Amino acid sequence: MSNPPIPVITIDGPTASGKGTVAQRVAQHLGFHYLDSGALYRLTALSVMRRDISLDDEHALAKAAEHLHCHFNGAHIFLANEDVSNDIRVETVGNLASKIAAIPTVRQALYGLQLSFRQHPGLVADGRDMGTVIFPHAGLKVFLTASVEARALRRYKQLIDKGFSANMEDLSKDLTERDARDSNRSSAPLKAAEAAYLLDTSAMTADQAVAQVLEWYAAAKALHAQSE
Ligand code: DC
Repeated sequence: MSNPPIPVITIDGPTASGKGTVAQRVAQHLGFHYLDSGALYRLTALSVMRRDISLDDEHALAKAAEHLHCHFNGAHIFLANEDVSNDIRVETVGNLASKIAAIPTVRQALYGLQLSFRQHPGLVADGRDMGTVIFPHAGLKVFLTASVEARALRRYKQLIDKGFSANMEDLSKDLTERDARDSNRSSAPLKAAEAAYLLDTSAMTADQAVAQVLEWYAAAKALHAQSE
């Protein structure tokens, strides 16, 4: 008898839509592993910045992604053995991540690493192409959105909480530019997977969004059990 497949829930959406918070909490609730795929692009960007690799040097960018020495320990993210959890969250790193993420060879270099997060008893993965490219057979796919205003405010609070300075106008402009870049690239653009449930969290608390995803997951599991 073959082993049952390891369940996967994908949560895709634009930057600062709250998908990270929701995905982590859903994973925690179900006792599943969690993949923050954006962190892999951010780690690559940080590594590229530190090594002064030019954005035109596609080969070197892909190599940096391929040889990313990173590991995750709870909320802490390490590059080599340095805790870079805060360093990767600054806007310059996020913007560079969005730029290098448009390069197909960089995406390809991170493909296997992302798949390796699928481990028992299950995985919740968040990003831009989790449901469309990386885990196209996921049992539940969610596309999480929120208005630019709501997202800019969330990002503002996150940055201030972490002790960074921030400006709402710059953040809104940044988010809009990043959305356009992530949505219009030809390789794995940000878009909802065909079977994805859409969740607009502009007027929702994180608790409400988490409860909705868990409800969809329970329904998807019941449906799957019925069809077996
Ligand atoms: O989710 P985030 O803001 O941490 O992601 C940073 C950038 O990485 C984002 O602007 C686009 C890119 N990214 C991607 O292209 N594909 C993913 N699955 C996750 C992130």
